[in-house]
Amino acid sequence: MGADPVEGAAAREDSAVAAVEFPVPAPLASHGPARIVAMCNQKGGVGKTTTTINLGAALAEYGRRVLLVDFDPQGAASAGLGVSANELESTIYTALMTPRFDIRTIVHRTALEGLDLVPANIDLSAAEVQLVNEVAREQALARVLRPVLDDYDVVLVDCQPSLGLLTVNALTAAHGVIVPLETEFFALRGVALLLETIEKVRDRLNPRLRTDGILATMYDGRTLHSREVLARVREAFGEDVFTTVIGRTVKFPDASVATEPITTYAPTHPGAEAYRQLARELVARGDVA
Ligand SMILES: Nc1ncnc2c1ncn2[C@@H]1O[C@H](COP(=O)(O)OP(=O)(O)O)[C@@H](O)[C@H]1O
Ligand SMILES: [Mg+2]
Repeated sequence: MGADPVEGAAAREDSAVAAVEFPVPAPLASHGPARIVAMCNQKGGVGKTTTTINLGAALAEYGRRVLLVDFDPQGAASAGLGVSANELESTIYTALMTPRFDIRTIVHRTALEGLDLVPANIDLSAAEVQLVNEVAREQALARVLRPVLDDYDVVLVDCQPSLGLLTVNALTAAHGVIVPLETEFFALRGVALLLETIEKVRDRLNPRLRTDGILATMYDGRTLHSREVLARVREAFGEDVFTTVIGRTVKFPDASVATEPITTYAPTHPGAEAYRQLARELVARGDVA
């Protein structure tokens, strides 16, 4: 663990990771309507939840109003921000299944100013089956989020690792998708299917949907392997790959245990700086206000 800061530094000095600086976003004079971004990859353990929490925290630091929607029955985003969702009676599941339910009643403030959370727990796993028989079953999340969009600048939806109906709901509600990709040999497996699913949703349900970018995560610049995989990913997806790369560091799981974003748990750590850079990159590209 003592060597940990060195890992991040190695990633930053690595020539495969461009040292581009994006400007610090100007403060916003007013807020909303939010752009909805789904964090999507049917593979588990690639950094969806970590990116949701830490990108959200970084955007909140820059004065953006951010709503995180935990859309995974495992409830990792809720747990990672200290919300014990298993004890809650009302969660995103309740909002999806109850007509005219006011989502504001289940918005939790976090310790970080400007960062709010709609929690999920295992109840949500039933929604996948129950929604099948509903009218406009793919639009349930979009409908639930509509009343709060004016209160936020960005809504980040943390998807479960599947391409099922819940994920289709997230893609139908979203303006953009971020695809976190572990910088590992098999990372590219399944990406074609994911992009196909995004394409189908755009075609049939949500014409405004676009792929904001592919985010390389868990990158270790000291290994040839990581550098090769990153090069392959850039070769395959070109401009669609974010300039920002998230290094591999144990500070991320550590921050989850402490139920904090890395930006407050270890504010000066390269891992915190990486998510701030991603936030700046998104604003610079116009993907976030
Ligand atoms: N950049 C990283 N470096 C090291 N560990 C990471 C990194 N990003 C995420 N992790 C850890 O890997 C595990 C899976 O990450 P998570 O964000 O939960 O993935 P997903 O939501 O895609 O399943 C978690 O224990 C998390 O703390
Ligand atoms: Mg997750």
